[in-house]
Amino acid sequence: MRSLLFVPADSGKKLDKAMASGADALIVDLEDSIALDRKEAARKNAAAFLAEAVATAPRPYLLVRVNGLKTDLIDADLDAVAAAKPDALMLPKAEGGASIIHLDAKLAVREALCGLPDGHIKIVAIATETAAALFRVGSYAGASARLLALTWGAEDLSVELGAEANRDAQGRFLDPYRLARTLCLAGAAAAEVMAIDTVYVDFADSHGLRRECEEARRDGFAGKMAIHPAQVPIINELFTPSLKALAQAQAIVDAFAQNPAAGAVGLNGVMVDRPHLNRAKRLLQRAAAKPR
Ligand code: COA
Ligand code: MG
Repeated sequence: MRSLLFVPADSGKKLDKAMASGADALIVDLEDSIALDRKEAARKNAAAFLAEAVATAPRPYLLVRVNGLKTDLIDADLDAVAAAKPDALMLPKAEGGASIIHLDAKLAVREALCGLPDGHIKIVAIATETAAALFRVGSYAGASARLLALTWGAEDLSVELGAEANRDAQGRFLDPYRLARTLCLAGAAAAEVMAIDTVYVDFADSHGLRRECEEARRDGFAGKMAIHPAQVPIINELFTPSLKALAQAQAIVDAFAQNPAAGAVGLNGVMVDRPHLNRAKRLLQRAAAKPR
């Protein structure tokens, strides 16, 4: 998944527009973009939208961001949307593997009630939105086969930390958020799931978005969340492996195929070893997979 576009669940117009945005995934939002007195209307709208969208082909991967486990809203969210068979839920304010096990149990009950196969609905966790969460990012491995990806957030975290800002004057994340980003990346790799980069909220600044996509791809993120349709083509472009990168990966795979017993080989004057081979294989697999 390269691009995941947030859409407030109470806006039918934006939901329709999002379907045509070219995003690999849509995140129908019941959490922060929905005011408390609009939650019920948003749930109904989300369920109606999903029921129709799930049956469309081709279609983006469909997620719903529910409210967090510590709110008294999540059960009603799940009751409203499970029967509409979203591909995955996004769990905000997750605090490690225990949160995933908790949501997994809630989902198993709904799946049984709706006649869905156990494990049908996957989970993408936002792993860095509370201070406590930062200390638990290493605990996602093995929590549930539903876990598909980890992503991270700086907005809620900065409020919790009591910070005045989360970016510097040039728009780059400050230290506490760079730590959160790195922990997300390492937690996802440890759990063997995708890492997805956080949103770039200044949607008029395509230059800044490009820079952040390039840095995220370089560091190992598989994709990035978006808040506006204009961000989608940029994210798709920058997270699609270039022909040059694919050719280089293929050359590494070929070099090891010709020297199957070698731990390291020389390629164009540079040493490549087994970790390079694994990375090359992952890149080729990602490129061969369907976008979502
Ligand atoms: N999904 C689908 N369509 C969107 C969209 C989104 N996330 N954001 C904007 N659009 C649509 C608008 O409805 C508008 O449609 P129109 O041309 O048919 O009127 C068009 O794209 C251009 O939008 P624009 O005028 O540039 O922005 P806006 O002022 O309408 O909306 C936001 C700005 C930030 C409110 C909007 O982008 C948004 O709702 N983003 C998602 C917010 C969210 O989910 N946040 C939670 C996660 S952090
Ligand atoms: Mg939030």
